[in-house]
Formats: sequence, C-alpha cells, structure tokens
Amino acid sequence: MNDLFDKIYRDRGPLGRWASHAEGYFIFPKLEGQISNRMKFQGKDVITWSINDYLGLANHPEVRKVDAEASKLYGSAYPMGARMMSGHTSLHERLQNELAEFVNKEATYLLNFGYQGMVSTIDALVAKNDIIVYDVDSHACIIDGVRLHMGKRFTYKHNDVVSLEKNLERATKLAEQSGGGILVISEGVFGMRGEQGRLKEIIELKKKFKFRLLVDDAHGFGTLGKTGAGAGEEQGVQDDIDVYFATFAKSMASTGAFIAADEEIINYLKYNLRSQMFAKSLQMQLVVGALKRLDMLRTMPELKENLWNIVNALQSGLKERGFDIGTTQSCVTPVYLKGSIPEAMALVKDLRENHGIFCSIVVYPVIPKGLILLRMIPTATHTLEDVEITLNAFSAIRERLQNGTYKRLSAAVSKAMGE
Ligand SMILES: Cc1ncc(COP(=O)(O)O)c(C=O)c1O
Repeated sequence: MNDLFDKIYRDRGPLGRWASHAEGYFIFPKLEGQISNRMKFQGKDVITWSINDYLGLANHPEVRKVDAEASKLYGSAYPMGARMMSGHTSLHERLQNELAEFVNKEATYLLNFGYQGMVSTIDALVAKNDIIVYDVDSHACIIDGVRLHMGKRFTYKHNDVVSLEKNLERATKLAEQSGGGILVISEGVFGMRGEQGRLKEIIELKKKFKFRLLVDDAHGFGTLGKTGAGAGEEQGVQDDIDVYFATFAKSMASTGAFIAADEEIINYLKYNLRSQMFAKSLQMQLVVGALKRLDMLRTMPELKENLWNIVNALQSGLKERGFDIGTTQSCVTPVYLKGSIPEAMALVKDLRENHGIFCSIVVYPVIPKGLILLRMIPTATHTLEDVEITLNAFSAIRERLQNGTYKRLSAAVSKAMGE
C-alpha cells in the first residue's frame, strides 16, 4: 500500500509541474495598484490586458463609494447564516428582482460564487435518469457539475451543432428508456477563445428534440446585447434559454453570481441548491455593491460603448497587422502564435519587461502543442494609446519569435524541461 501523499511527492500535477520555472511570474503573478488599464508588476508599470473588469467598474469612484459605505454599515458578517435559515434580507430579494428584470426572466436566485453555484445548479436540475449533453470545451464549473451527475452524459464537439444533434439522438433514445429528460449546457461566450455559443442554432434543435438549455454567460453578461443582458439578448433568443447563469466576477467587478429562469424553476432551485442551502448567504456589502453596479449597467450605456471602442480598435488592429485572432465574437481577444512553451515564456518576459504589456499566456495542454495563445481582455478603462502601444509591441515580439531570438534565449529552459 502507498502513502496517500506519495503521488503528490512524485508529481505536482499538470500546472504545478511548471512551478519552479513559472511561479511568481507566469503563474501566481502579483499585479499591484488599483485595478485599471495600468498597474504595476514587479515594480514596473504595465498595461494590463488580463483582468475581466470589462466595464471598468472595479475602480469606478461611484462604485468604490457605495462599496465603502456598505462595508461601513454592514461590516463583512451580515447577514449570518444560510438564506434559508437566517441569512435572507429584503435587499437580497430586491437584487434578485432587479436582475430578473434586467435579463428578462421571471425570477432569479443569488449564488455566492459562480463556480460553486453552477456545480450546484447542474446537480439540482438533473435526476439519475436524466441525460446531460454539454460542450466538450466547457468551463471547469460545468465539468465539475456534470461529474456529480449519477446518470448518463455526453459531450458534443466544441460549438458544433451537427455533433450536438447526433448526441441528442443518442440521448433521446436513452431518455425514452429511462423516462428522464435532457439537459443541454453551453456557454454564452467561451472565455478562452471568445466565440459565442451557437445558442440560436441550439435552440432551433428544440423543434426536433425535447431538451432544456442551461447557458453559462459569465463573459456575455454586461458586454453583449443591446442592453447588456448577454449572449441570449445578442442572438435574440433570451426567452428560449431555460436557465440563464451569470457571475458578478466579470462585468460587475465583484463576487457572487445568479441564475435566472421561470419562477417555478427558481422556486424549485432555491429549495434544492446545495451550494446555497448549506453555505452562508451572500454578504450584504456585495449585495448592495451589486445593486449599484446593476444600476450603472442599466443607466450608463457609455460604459459598454467605451469597451467596444477598445475591443474593435484592438481586434481590427491585430487583424490588419496579420495576427491570427481565431474566431472570437466577443471582447475576449486571443492572439495565436506558433512556438514552444520555453519560447512562450521568453516572449512573455520580453512583453512585460521591455514593452510594459501584461497579458495572460495559455499553452499546452490547454491548447494544442506548438501553439502559444496570448489572451487579452479589453476593458472600458483602456485607451486608444494603450491599444497602439500594444499593437506595436506585438509586431516587435512576432519578429523576434520568427527570427529565433526567443529560441536562443530559452535554450537553457528548453534543455532543463526536455522540450
Ligand atoms: C465561464 C465561467 N463560468 C463560471 C465562472 C466562475 O465564476 P466565479 O468566479 O463567480 O466563481 C467563470 C470564472 O470566473 C467563468 O469564466
């Protein structure tokens, strides 16, 4: 028999394996200063393209004022207990009603965190004889929710409606035998590559198959649609999304999340969502802060306009310079380059140290071997000058990547890693 910790001593896991080369710089970097387009990294000023503060609310003076006042009034404890027991308030209810109106659904229910809330939502929606059909590139919170399911589940190819249809045929046969139903899960916007989930086409399939649709719109809420109500509004199908989910961790620049659906479904979920039944209620300062942020989403369309001015300038500038930004249909802006992991590390170091640009890198195993993905998140706080500086920096690093500079610089790391 082995000691439980043997495997941990042997292998720190797919990301932990990189710790000695990457920790503190590529992984667990410390960005300092107020959240905005310009922050400090290791004492240097950098333009930050890695924070999901899409609408620039994180450090907006009105938001900061309300957050501070709510904190003074309520502290961080209130209310104590789970919603069901002693943690329910009129302000929680008010926020739910306002969110429902904003996303055009009958009702909503608050979640303490998007991740746990999504896990619990999936868990509560399905019984053992139900079948889940979900996008293979789903966010970890969806995958973990599906893991709790005791019955059958199928993945469909990423954003591929033909593959979804095939899997719905299989699922329908099984559901007819088991007497269960089918839950389809997609994201509104896929956060890594920025494509919108094909919600309209998925919903078209409702004419042929019987299923319910759950959409995780973490990146769409506040950024897409005429009023900012998200990917469903953008694609004109909000009414046909059976359960809509969004987090406060992105456009709302806070913590918390919510689900929205018909009243009867929300009434069921509020009695069956284990992440909310057995956890302390969302803190009042977050509820008050969310009410303020929601009000700004509703009444300040210029925030979304500023955001999209930056998104359009960045994405069209990259395309004009011949960069591959993949298939994004949202603010998420990926730039794909070819190179090894050590080259990616040298390139990002150059970007940060010599060009003052801070963005996230994604490499294998998240994307195929030999590809480097620089993922940029534009926000309403960025300026056209930030975009120009960044485009020039990208042209410079591409040249150095192509002329082998990073290969030379990273030769020692490559050797140590056996790359
Ligand atoms: C698509 C998606 N769903 C869910 C979550 C989790 O939300 P939270 O940060 O509120 O736990 C995230 C990340 O924040 C996300 O990107």
